Amino acid sequence: MYDLIVIGGGPAGYLGAERAASAGMSVCLFEKNSLGGVCLNEGCIPSKALLNSAKIYEQAVHGDKYGVKIEGATLDHKAVVARRGKVVKTLVGGVGAKMKAHGVTVVKEKAKITGRVEGGFAVEAAGQVYEAKKLLIATGSVPVMPPIPGLRENYKTGFVLTNREVLELDAVPAKLVIIGGGVIGLEMGAYYNVAGSHVTVVEMLDHIAGPTDGEIRTLLLKEYQKKGVDFRLGAKVTAVEPGKVVYEDAQGKVCEVEADKVLCSIGRRADFGDIGLDTIGVETTRMGIVTDNKGRTNVENVYAAGDVNGHNMLAHTAYRESEVAVNTMLGKSDVMRYNANPSVIYAKPEVAAVGFTEEAAKEAGIDYEVKKLSMRYAGRFVAENEGGDGLCKILVDKKHRNIIGVHMIGGYASEIIWGAAALIETELRVRDVKELIFPHPTVSEIIREVIWEFKD
Ligand code: NAI
Repeated sequence: MYDLIVIGGGPAGYLGAERAASAGMSVCLFEKNSLGGVCLNEGCIPSKALLNSAKIYEQAVHGDKYGVKIEGATLDHKAVVARRGKVVKTLVGGVGAKMKAHGVTVVKEKAKITGRVEGGFAVEAAGQVYEAKKLLIATGSVPVMPPIPGLRENYKTGFVLTNREVLELDAVPAKLVIIGGGVIGLEMGAYYNVAGSHVTVVEMLDHIAGPTDGEIRTLLLKEYQKKGVDFRLGAKVTAVEPGKVVYEDAQGKVCEVEADKVLCSIGRRADFGDIGLDTIGVETTRMGIVTDNKGRTNVENVYAAGDVNGHNMLAHTAYRESEVAVNTMLGKSDVMRYNANPSVIYAKPEVAAVGFTEEAAKEAGIDYEVKKLSMRYAGRFVAENEGGDGLCKILVDKKHRNIIGVHMIGGYASEIIWGAAALIETELRVRDVKELIFPHPTVSEIIREVIWEFKD
């Protein structure tokens, strides 16, 4: 009998397995596809590979702004997609090697919980039964495909794509219609816009980028529009037909937009339907497996981490949730704190945020003070972004003077935001941050600049 069976080899599963094994537990991990999960195989990593190629191409095309003339630059989409495959292969191999190095048994099969056995649980895979004292469920999420007429049928024909297929298209579609202006829609829209598609985003809400700070998402929208991306906001898709997407606009008028391909990116849902949770009575809701802030389900010794708990579908959250769950198994005190959980949209430009937005602070009745500055207050940003701009906005609790929210749009934001999360996590006050030394010249200095706009 193993100490721990992990079901799912994505960020929550493989890191949980690694942490548990390095603490001395015997661990068996099941993965039905490829190690690394959606993040590594068809999400975070391959999309960053594509976006980096777009960035290099754009720099080549606009090099003259920086005194660098490059003639005849082209973006070879097939080569970009091939490189993405190479990157994924390397990293998947890396995860496998880590599992081996930590002595984790990896079973590349679909696992199903079959019930309780004395001292633990039984799991079946490919006709074989495995037993463990504890379970960590990390089965992730799948794309939402609502019953919009024609959507699923056209997915089968290859006209409609999800996050998986959009990363491996053979050719750049002349007209790409994206349903959903959230994270995936904006990231993939950025790549295909640079690669040469005419991109149209059809979004149900009156804004893009979901819960992002209102001012920042408006700036982001303008940047995309400047690059020629077309947005239909307040638009409800009513049908997908070969060659077009039909929607009702905010006034209820029926409109259509032509498409060569359609990306459906309207969210993801936890994936736990067929793994036998009912055999041991694990509580679930429509959102996912119910867990507390230590990753515990209602069943003793059964834990869940990552997208499957429906808390927050981010790979870095999954990492931390699995660490908290493993620490709890080991009897160590640890807890998930979601208030300092950064989020990034690898859009063009990047958006990164942590903590309360103004909208959320108002809703929570928090008395806050806000200051903001253009990213151009950071010398490094000006040196590297000819004609570019961005914004950094910080929220402080008016009474206690600690940082409660940081929101940024502009290059490097994704690399800076962890530091902002640390300010929130450690409850630093304005005067504490004023005493920190920021390396110069870096774009991160924008945080220091904004902090100095506040009184202690
Ligand atoms: P999302 O939740 O970010 O955005 C979905 C968008 O679709 C929303 O704006 C929503 O209003 C809109 N929508 C929903 N139904 C619609 C309809 N019928 N017609 C038009 N618009 C509709 O979901 P997305 O982009 O699919 O991403 C899925 C998950 O993957 C997210 O939870 C995200 O956290 C995660 N992810 C994170 C990334 C990152 O951290 N950089 C990158 C990619 C994905």
